[in-house]
Amino acid sequence: MIKNYTDVAPIIKYIRSIIIFNYAIFYKTLRMFCVSSNKLRQKRSYLITGGKMRVYLDNNATTIVDPHVFEVMEPFFCQKYGNPNSLHQFASDTHKPLKEAMQKIYAGIGASNEDSVAITSCATESNNWVLKSIYFEYILTGRKNHIIVSEVEHPSIMATAKFLETKGCKVTYLPINSEGIVEAHTVRDFITDKTALVSIMWVNNETGAIFPIEEIGAICATKGVLFHTDSVQAIGKVPVNVKEANVDYLTMSAHKFHGPKGVGALFMKKDQELTPLLHGGSHMGGLRSGTLNVSGIVGMGKAMEAAIDALDFEMSEIKELRDRLEDAILEIEDTFVVTPRAKRTPNTILVSFRGIEGEAMLWDLNRAGIAASTGSACASEDLESNPIMEAIGAEADLAHTAIRFSLSRYTTSEEIDYTIDIVKEAVKRLRSISSSYAYAPTGHNDGPNTNH
Ligand SMILES: Cc1ncc(COP(=O)(O)O)c(C=O)c1O
Repeated sequence: MIKNYTDVAPIIKYIRSIIIFNYAIFYKTLRMFCVSSNKLRQKRSYLITGGKMRVYLDNNATTIVDPHVFEVMEPFFCQKYGNPNSLHQFASDTHKPLKEAMQKIYAGIGASNEDSVAITSCATESNNWVLKSIYFEYILTGRKNHIIVSEVEHPSIMATAKFLETKGCKVTYLPINSEGIVEAHTVRDFITDKTALVSIMWVNNETGAIFPIEEIGAICATKGVLFHTDSVQAIGKVPVNVKEANVDYLTMSAHKFHGPKGVGALFMKKDQELTPLLHGGSHMGGLRSGTLNVSGIVGMGKAMEAAIDALDFEMSEIKELRDRLEDAILEIEDTFVVTPRAKRTPNTILVSFRGIEGEAMLWDLNRAGIAASTGSACASEDLESNPIMEAIGAEADLAHTAIRFSLSRYTTSEEIDYTIDIVKEAVKRLRSISSSYAYAPTGHNDGPNTNH
């Protein structure tokens, strides 16, 4: 007979342990199921929904998170959630993973321990930080008054440069050549003794054009000018090494290489640390205060490691898929590609379809479940011509018809076959209703650099 709590306590304890045990098994099984089904989904990155295939070819805008990245991030939400700066075990639990993640980030770009890598919230922040710091350190103090950028930088550089012009900074916007590339000699031509910084992207986000960063870095080093490169579209697609490229500052963003959104970084060479961006604490060596985004940093470390491991795959298998898509597109009359393949990242095609508004093409593709872009995601809400096509001086009917397809290591062969069929159908349909094309088909593909 049960008289008091002591009599029932062992029973309650027993039942509780069974519940906890079963819950643990249930939770683990559920987690394993989620991770493995996620992996399966990743393997065939398209989904069949309602009989419609979905194909993601907008990887220069953002990428799917690698399931391994997701897996390593997960414990830092509900288990290891301590503030790394606190003085207890919850904090200590984060120290080793943070250190290992930072080592992976340093290793991924060839940085040494004396250099600094400050974690930021995105590449836009890193780019703003560099330019505005140079303004504080050099322009405002009157030591120098000039910076050089290319005319095809991402808006986070362009808009910041324009803002600094309103504050008295002189800015040179370097032209690109007919292949969409900034030539190194133009950098040399425009450097003066008043130049504080050269900022040129490693890879262009629209065309995938690879700029001669090592040559530009060497020129800047010889001339004693600081050199920043936005490597957002380069990481995981081409080898990136800050030492070989003589880089003083380098920007990156995890969500462009299968890491999480909301985390980026800024590399600063030894002895070239910038003005602190956020004051208020000792985080990031006092350069950028604010409680660390532990899961994000751990995720970016893993994503960097995976991107480096997958580099050969990217440069061979993805390139093969990209080339197959491009060959098929270029078989269509009146299609044009700007940058030769050998001078581009292996995943990107920017192609113009004469007579077809880019947005109309996107609409047809989207209806068939295919995601592509008319240019950088930040600008694609505006019905404007493509800035690269404008910069190379392309005719208006080409500049308005550019579509960017950007692949990733999750793109499959079936997806490319499907895309080829849909693109051909869309071109046929849209040209049949295009008044401009009805009057001006050229019937061949003699646009800029088509046969590369
Ligand atoms: C070359 C380049 N720089 C910077 C950015 C901005 O990246 P984030 O979204 O991390 O701010 C992008 C995004 O498209 C980009 O392509």
